This record gives sequence, structure tokens and C-alpha cells, in this order.
Amino acid sequence: MRAMTLDSYGMAPKLTELPVPSPGPGQVLVRVRATSINPIDWKQASGKARPLLGAKFPGFIPGYDLAGELEALGAGVTGLTVGQRVHTRLSGTRGGASAELVVAGLDVLQPMPEGTDFAQAAGLPLAGMTALQGLRDACRLPMTGATQRVLIIGASGGVGHLAVQLARAAGASVVGVCSTRNVDLVRRLGATDVVDYTKSAPYAGQAPFDVIYDCVGSSPSDFLGLLTPKGRFASCLPGPAVFAHAALNLVRARKVLPVLLDANAADLGVLDALVAKGKLEVVIDSRFPLTGLAAAWARSSSGRAAGKVIVDV
Ligand SMILES: NC(=O)c1ccc[n+]([C@@H]2O[C@H](COP(=O)([O-])OP(=O)(O)OC[C@H]3O[C@@H](n4cnc5c(N)ncnc54)[C@H](OP(=O)(O)O)[C@@H]3O)[C@@H](O)[C@H]2O)c1
Repeated sequence: MRAMTLDSYGMAPKLTELPVPSPGPGQVLVRVRATSINPIDWKQASGKARPLLGAKFPGFIPGYDLAGELEALGAGVTGLTVGQRVHTRLSGTRGGASAELVVAGLDVLQPMPEGTDFAQAAGLPLAGMTALQGLRDACRLPMTGATQRVLIIGASGGVGHLAVQLARAAGASVVGVCSTRNVDLVRRLGATDVVDYTKSAPYAGQAPFDVIYDCVGSSPSDFLGLLTPKGRFASCLPGPAVFAHAALNLVRARKVLPVLLDANAADLGVLDALVAKGKLEVVIDSRFPLTGLAAAWARSSSGRAAGKVIVDV
């Protein structure tokens, strides 16, 4: 089978012929049809995220999100059938998705939601769970009957465009932050209002917010003044300032929180249910073939993707 591999940090991924892996007990073999790019993929491959996010060489296969068909079931796997369409965010930090055949555990695996294609199903797991956990767990937004006012910074990105829809589906009033070219997209996804960050004084008349979910690495001190007294600011790209504020939170009210993905099948199932009900849509920014992985990374690392960058396998 073919896979894209790296033998050192910073090199371009190369097409490699590898033996077909076999699933162990409690694992499945997936014939991959699509993967989606997340910034963790190219950050890990660059080596800049070491030692937190190291890679094992030679033959490191990057990538985490995938959708495909079950090719074989390991011993003890029940409730799934060969040929079934599934998607997952591979667990751990060992990558592995950029290949034709991938062994996956069941801890983050779900059948693909009805009505989705492989590209949309591949685009959902990592970004969707990060969006869900940031809103529900860090910001304590109730996922039904929410009356809060929510600001999503980076509303057109992989995480942000799903966070806009999740907050809206929860009932919240959502303000999305994006640049001019993405205003229509963010409105279509359900934002009640849109802040164009390229304009001067973009937040005039918008505050206060009960929840601010930052998906672009903003400084919390720029936004704390926009929160209600009990409001929360969470970031899925937490810099030192977020961790410093979060440490202070231990002795004060919990206001600033880092979001670190905890990939799990239950949360992927929550997202799948919303997709099946037509309340959550994965927007596709662009598509590349497996051999175009370096170009897919370049698109993602440009910081300009609106929705998800997909690799068709
Ligand atoms: N902590 C975790 O577990 C976790 C999980 C997932 C992701 N992450 C991190 O979260 C970050 C976001 O991930 P992602 O997949 O959403 O990235 P992404 O899809 O690459 O984000 C691109 C989007 O960001 C928007 N953007 C850039 N600068 C902006 C600004 N100043 N204000 C508002 N929007 C801006 C861009 O819109 P414009 O072109 O309109 O500017 C673009 O649509 C990444 O750094 C990723 O590593 C962390």
C-alpha cells in the first residue's frame, strides 16, 4: 500500500510503498478515502512542536483525521462490518492517516453520519471535537437552550466554522470574527452578526459576551474587557499569556482557559448526530490528491483556509 512518509523533520512528505498493516485485537483496518489537514500535521512534521509533539523516523506517516471503509476487523471487534463507512481522529500523537490502509482503534471511531461523503466525514473529527469541547467544557455553554452571547474568533477556520454552527445549534446568539472575504460564509453558517477584523474598531457596540472562543491565538488581555462578569475566554491556540491567566484563575474566578483536545468516540458521536440532523456542515476549502500532501499543508499553513483542507486518497 502507498503512504506519504517523512524520514526527518522539515522534509517534504514522499510517496512510499509499505506492507499492508494488520489490525490487532480490538482494532480495525480502514481503507482510507479521504483525510483532512489540521495545523498539528504540518507543525509536527516541521519539528517546531518538539518535544511535546515528536515524530518517529524513518517512515513517519503524518495526519490524524480520516474517513474510509472498513477493510478488516481485528479479533474481538463486534458491532462493525467489513465495508462499513467510518471516520476517526487517530488517537495519540503518532500520526498515521496519510496512507491507503490504516489501523485504527475503536476509542475515537464512529460510523460516518448519514448523508455525508468521505471528504466531509474526514473534515469533522479533530476540528469538530475541539470546537465542541471548547464551547461545552471550557466555556460551559449549554448545548441546548443556550441564551448566551458567544464570540468566535477565527469563525471561518477549521475549528471556528464548526464552533459557529455548534453555538448556534445550542441556541446561542453568535458573533463571528473573520476577514471581509469570509463575512458571507460566516453569516450563512448561522452567525447573528459578523465582526470584520480588518476594519477599524471592529468590536464597537458588540460587547459584552458570555463566551469568547479564540481559534487564532489572540491575547486574552485584548478581550477580557468584552466579557460579562461571569464570562469565559477559551483558546484552542493558547500562548504563554493564556497559561499565565489560567494559573491566576486558580486563585480568582475561572475566566481564561486553554483548550486541549481530548479525542473520544462519544464526542464524535455528538457531532455526527448534529450532522445527520442537518445542523452541522463541514465546509470544504480545497482538495488535494495524496501525492499533493505538501501543497495541502501549504494551503493550511497559509492561515487563509475557509473550512477544511481535504486530501483525497
Ligand atoms: N488545542 C487543541 O487541541 C487544538 C485543536 C485543533 C486546532 N488547534 C489549533 O487551533 C488553531 C486553529 O485551527 P484551525 O484548524 O481552525 O486553523 P485554520 O483552519 O488554518 O484557520 C484558518 C482561519 O483562521 C482565520 N484567521 C486568521 N487570522 C485571523 C484573525 N486574526 N481573526 C480572525 N480569523 C482569523 C482565517 O480567516 P481569514 O483568512 O479571514 O483571516 C482562516 O479562515 C491552529 O493553530 C491549531 O493548531 C488546537
